[in-house]
Amino acid sequence: MAAGAALLLLLAALLGLGQADEAPKVEVYSRNHGVDGEENTLNCFVSGFHPPKINISFFKNGEPMSNVKYTDMSFNDKWYFQRLAYVTFTPRKGDIYVCRVAHSAFPEPQSFRWDADF
Ligand SMILES: *[C@@H]1O[C@H](CO)[C@@H](O)[C@H](O)[C@H]1NC(C)=O
Repeated sequence: MAAGAALLLLLAALLGLGQADEAPKVEVYSRNHGVDGEENTLNCFVSGFHPPKINISFFKNGEPMSNVKYTDMSFNDKWYFQRLAYVTFTPRKGDIYVCRVAHSAFPEPQSFRWDADF
């Protein structure tokens, strides 16, 4: 992360210190329309949360997926944080993909399923 971005992030964390914990909103979607057997990208967009500590991971049929990438943490105009996690995948009929999010505002990690549209 660039120094400027890190500084802004720190500033956001400090300004947000008085904020109550806010649970993340989670959207799971594929970049392209899901086609059985075609490579695609699975996205998990997590937004509106506070504090910034969060764990985002993907599971395929209950197994953790590797090579997950993350965008830098950013924040919106109300100092709530957001982050995108994404991973390349090739969906197959019957496979179940979930994005799992662990955050202090959740009593336990929550799983959000990708709805394959085939
Ligand atoms: C994220 O994962 C780390 C390592 O497993 C853990 O120590 C930490 O408590 C987790 N954070 C949250 C917000 O669940």
